[in-house]
Amino acid sequence: MTPRAFTVAIDGPAAAGKGTIARAVAGHFGFAHLDTGLLYRAVGALTLDGADPIEAARALDPRALEDGRLRTAEVAQAASRVAVIPEVRAALLDFQRSFARRPGGAVLDGRDICTVIYPGAEAQLFVTASAEVRAERRWKELRDKGDDRTLAEVLADVRARDARDSEREAAPLRPADGAMLLDTSKMSIDEAVAAAIAHVAAKGGAPRA
Ligand code: DC
Repeated sequence: MTPRAFTVAIDGPAAAGKGTIARAVAGHFGFAHLDTGLLYRAVGALTLDGADPIEAARALDPRALEDGRLRTAEVAQAASRVAVIPEVRAALLDFQRSFARRPGGAVLDGRDICTVIYPGAEAQLFVTASAEVRAERRWKELRDKGDDRTLAEVLADVRARDARDSEREAAPLRPADGAMLLDTSKMSIDEAVAAAIAHVAAKGGAPRA
């Protein structure tokens, strides 16, 4: 018997904890996980090398998602710039949709999973936190990796990306009507993960046998 498809869609702004929550939910239920930001980061990285963003998105090889540079702040800004281009978004749609319906369950995190990519997702979450809390978390992560940017610089980056992601015309970041709102500003990681798992279970998600 083919295992059934079950989609968990998680949206939210940069550094809200989506990735951590998505990985933990996928691990708990035994579902596959796709960090859709990596698709935009891979296209952004290619444009930094001089590629045309639309052509890069159309020809994107999933192996490009493993590029070690994708987590840098420079690539994050490039990703948010290519993400405003409708043709780039369109080129990445089919891959994300088929991932969402793969047998055995899938968790996708990004900005428009509930609103555009897969509005039929059985469980939907909008994970957020104040810009200050998100900047502080990101700043600590960067500091641990030896990056010496100041908290003020990281906060300015978070705000710039928020503005670009939510004010763009193509698939702007916004909570979907049916999504559970999870504000992690005052939550520990464990509390946020537990709340997300409880929501997915309440929507009928069950660990793979
Ligand atoms: O989640 P992230 O920080 O890796 O995302 C990088 C950029 O990609 C982000 O600024 C906006 C864009 N993005 C998007 O437009 N849609 C998605 N589903 C995921 C990311």
